[in-house]
Amino acid sequence: MEVIIDVDSAVSSERAARNIAKQLKLKPSSVLGLATGSSPLKVYASLAEMCVRGEISFRSVTTFNLDEYIGVPPENEHSYRYFMNANFFDKIDIDKSRTHVPDGMAKDIEAACKSYEADIEASGGIDLQLLGIGSDGHIGFNEPSSSFASKTRVKGLASETITANARFFGNDVLAVPTHAITMGISTIMKARKICLLAYGSDKAAAVAGMIEGPISAKLPASILQMHPCVTIYLDNAAASKLDLRQYYDAAKSDLEARGEI
Ligand code: F6R
Repeated sequence: MEVIIDVDSAVSSERAARNIAKQLKLKPSSVLGLATGSSPLKVYASLAEMCVRGEISFRSVTTFNLDEYIGVPPENEHSYRYFMNANFFDKIDIDKSRTHVPDGMAKDIEAACKSYEADIEASGGIDLQLLGIGSDGHIGFNEPSSSFASKTRVKGLASETITANARFFGNDVLAVPTHAITMGISTIMKARKICLLAYGSDKAAAVAGMIEGPISAKLPASILQMHPCVTIYLDNAAASKLDLRQYYDAAKSDLEARGEI
């Protein structure tokens, strides 16, 4: 795990965006796994600016989003499809038919989950997966106690997640959908590279558990310790509960000196 701590989310997101841009230059037909929520917003804005400047292109890129609420149609502003179009896809040169978000309106949800997995496989697998982390340690909507062997399926949202996401629903917890389709933990772990973003003190405990705690289904993100290529992008607040900060900072200086980040 590379743990890269920057002063704030603006600097950190810029760094994460540069890493994704590097991936696209290495492989213009990359398959990207994408996340919604607050954490990736500045990364998407920065990638969109690079695209407008002609530095990168998404023309041959395929994307798969982590999750979608059940029962929220794509044209609804609260759906993750709407979020992705508004915050990213409408601002870049991507072919929208190559962008995938789970179908939370499917009549046969189980079949939709199976075909989402099959589509990821058929694309050649995810080259780079972007993740956020919940304050309860979830990745995607794999809430605490999710199986590490899980694939794309329906999960109920934990009450901590419903409370956190109420900010997108006018702070009305009752308006937040209670279930979502989410890639499973094994789906996420198959990605060749993973970049996780975490900002703010609300994430500090989950971040410390993910990086330095025991691997446990109680903190799903802790399984990332077993992935061979993970970069964690943090601001100072999200890093505030880490014990080994000095070590991470020294390793970051080495990576910077070698021009790797
Ligand atoms: C979003 C997702 C979630 C979020 C997490 C953090 O597609 O899968 O796991 O990444 O809840 O959300 P923010 O970034 O809003 O704090």
